Amino acid sequence: MATFAFDTVIDRLGTGSSKWSRHPSDVLPMWVADMDFAAPPAVVAALQDRLAHQVLGYAVAQDGLRETIVAAMAQRYGWTIAPEDLVFLPGVEPGFNMALRAQLQPGDGVTVQTPMYRPILSAPGHWGLVRHDVPLVPGERRHGLDVDALSAALDRSKAFLFCHPHNPTGRTFDRADLEAIAEACLVRDVAIISDEIHCDLLFDGRRHVPLASLSPEVARRTITLMAASKTYNIAGLKTAFAIIPDPDLRARFAACRLGMVDSVNALGLVATQAAFRDCEPWRQALLAYLGANRDHLMRELARRFPTIRCIAPEATFLAWLDCAALGLPDPQAFFLEKGRVGFSAGHEFGTPYGQHVRLNFGCPRALLDEGLDRMERALAGR
Ligand SMILES: Cc1ncc(COP(=O)(O)O)c(C=O)c1O
Repeated sequence: MATFAFDTVIDRLGTGSSKWSRHPSDVLPMWVADMDFAAPPAVVAALQDRLAHQVLGYAVAQDGLRETIVAAMAQRYGWTIAPEDLVFLPGVEPGFNMALRAQLQPGDGVTVQTPMYRPILSAPGHWGLVRHDVPLVPGERRHGLDVDALSAALDRSKAFLFCHPHNPTGRTFDRADLEAIAEACLVRDVAIISDEIHCDLLFDGRRHVPLASLSPEVARRTITLMAASKTYNIAGLKTAFAIIPDPDLRARFAACRLGMVDSVNALGLVATQAAFRDCEPWRQALLAYLGANRDHLMRELARRFPTIRCIAPEATFLAWLDCAALGLPDPQAFFLEKGRVGFSAGHEFGTPYGQHVRLNFGCPRALLDEGLDRMERALAGR
């Protein structure tokens, strides 16, 4: 396997990184979902080539980029899409907001699975929609999917806003899960919005199955949202895409740009193409590194903090830590103040989750160990 410098610690202070700007400089940030790795060399080279041209006017996705993504969908997931199914966006977050706006009326219900990435939790409220939460149920080794509870929420909903793989738990959904979910949506004529931004970060040889790839019937009612941003660590380039095979739905979705959702970033398009076309060895090496970080984290949690509960994530570089047994009023605030390590606060992912923190392990191993040391020191000093 090709080797890349994932162990190298890169100083990001003073670079305008949102991750490294939120807290004072003595805090180790382990919150927002970007990784502390350099972008793949092939992405950086493509950007340098593009910059050498020196003209940076408005940009539009070229056929080559569309074909690259079509080929990637076929190769990675056996999913056949057409180049015109793609709608380019400045982010997945505007995408799921546009998708709600395009299909629902104020007062309509939307089902989400909790805990949930905050912008998904808040999206229904932006459009006067009523959110129905269905908790994932923590089990011994996995979070359980309660299809009966999901169905009951879908009875009152016009859309299912899905996060697949799931942020913050890192839970993946296999074909059987997806068939049950799709069936529950189909029989109730519920629209599906599937945020699959973490789809290329599955561990242990798992293969992502796009929900819309199950059947043409499911594809017709599904808006899938993806991006190269998480996998290749280029989130700051603000480029994503929707895949919408149904032409009418695609037109309604596109109409929801409404003068607010802008066109795409010229450099983001270049980076996205290079990422999908040229960076498979980098992605495989990244997965090996992240998988090893995940395993190391699970071992160290068990050894140093045996009362913290964490179900090993099956995807993503995020770990969802249940700190209830530590008996802290607010674990995120405690680790920030006493340990100088900045996690995402559990309550951001839903009100019942105030005793959780989300830890980002998409970083060199040395930083992960530093974060664990800081947690340990904070708890020792209580
Ligand atoms: C599930 C999920 N969706 C969307 C986003 C944000 O995507 P974008 O920056 O493309 O809006 C994130 C970022 O953390 C995410 O985890």
